[in-house]
Amino acid sequence: MLTRRSLLSGAAAGVLTPKTKAAVEDLPLRQRAAKSGRSYGCAAGSYQLRDADFAPVLAREAGVLVPEYELKRLIVEPTPGHFDFSGADVLIAFAAAHGMTMRGHTLVWYAANPDWLEAAVLAAPDEDILTGYVTGMVQRYRGRIQSWDIVNEAIQPDDGRPDGLRDCFWLKRYGPSYIDHAYFAARQADLTAQLVYNDWGCEGGEAWNDRFRATTLKFLEGALARKVPIDALGLQGHLAAFHGSVNQRKLRAFLDEVRAMGLKILVTEHDVDDSGGPSDIAVRDRAVADASARFFDVVLDNTAATDVLTWGLTDRYLKAPGGLRSMLSGYTPRKLPLDANLKRKPMWYAMSQALAAEHGIR
Ligand code: G3I
Repeated sequence: MLTRRSLLSGAAAGVLTPKTKAAVEDLPLRQRAAKSGRSYGCAAGSYQLRDADFAPVLAREAGVLVPEYELKRLIVEPTPGHFDFSGADVLIAFAAAHGMTMRGHTLVWYAANPDWLEAAVLAAPDEDILTGYVTGMVQRYRGRIQSWDIVNEAIQPDDGRPDGLRDCFWLKRYGPSYIDHAYFAARQADLTAQLVYNDWGCEGGEAWNDRFRATTLKFLEGALARKVPIDALGLQGHLAAFHGSVNQRKLRAFLDEVRAMGLKILVTEHDVDDSGGPSDIAVRDRAVADASARFFDVVLDNTAATDVLTWGLTDRYLKAPGGLRSMLSGYTPRKLPLDANLKRKPMWYAMSQALAAEHGIR
């Protein structure tokens, strides 16, 4: 589908002389995004900063960092009341040294929790194990983490609740209001941080995606009606190149409704699963780039969408899925903008083009 963006970006590319086009094309993603009033960044692990080849590339390409793992409660509070911020603090120091902003991921989730947490929540006499943790974390990083995924993946229509919420232990103990109370606590702890509700499942065209989108809209409308301080929707953006695909019409309509609520839109965890494709790497890389381009052709046409993060920068640290088939095929994932040798892939160029195009009129 020809959109205003694809026309503009095509035209822009057309009027550039080969020299300036080459110079523009060579801009790192963080600079390319900044030129169009957006930001680009990625998830990282503190262990990756010890890779002398990778650290400078990360500083060159990313303007925003989010810990893939080290701000999850499993790492932060391995035993009750004992905290380990070491991994997150290394990433925050790196971001500060390289003029990056930080995202925090995530404070209230049904997964990546320490073994002791669920039983403690279900037996909790009050909300402190929820709101006290949110308050402490947001206060600790006030001024150093500018945007937070306070609650992650609280929606799951397949759990059969009328409100479509995930029937997790947080909800079992506190009811649906656990979500509201987490955001109120975060806002009280930091008056300026961007508070994001982060989820997946809104990108595709299948019936379950339709249910996910409808439930997400209903959830956001209800929360905003209760004055819950949610500033933005985090669209995770985990796509697949060879199974399922973005439904541009449905995604566009969904994001228009999110924007109409006055919310910002962030792409928080973009990557493109290339499993199930042919062994020909060039074909897989092209399919990944095309899936990414189709996604951003819609998302970045929405004026509320300005921040884009990929769930990693390079394939170097991706682990092959388990299983004999994967082992026998020698498959290694190629889901991210740079390959394992830190070379730019077609996905990098597709994202560079997408980030360059003007905002839409939507
Ligand atoms: O670091 C330990 C290592 O020391 C240990 O030997 C190994 C064996 O258990 O585990 C390693 O930790 C793993 C960690 O990733 C770091 O690689 C955990 O087992 C593993 O569960 C963890 O998975 C992460 C998952 O979230 C759960 O936290 C993935 O890396 C991460 O990509 C994934 O990210 C999620 C987002 O947070 C939410 N949205 C979906 C997204 C993808 O699933």
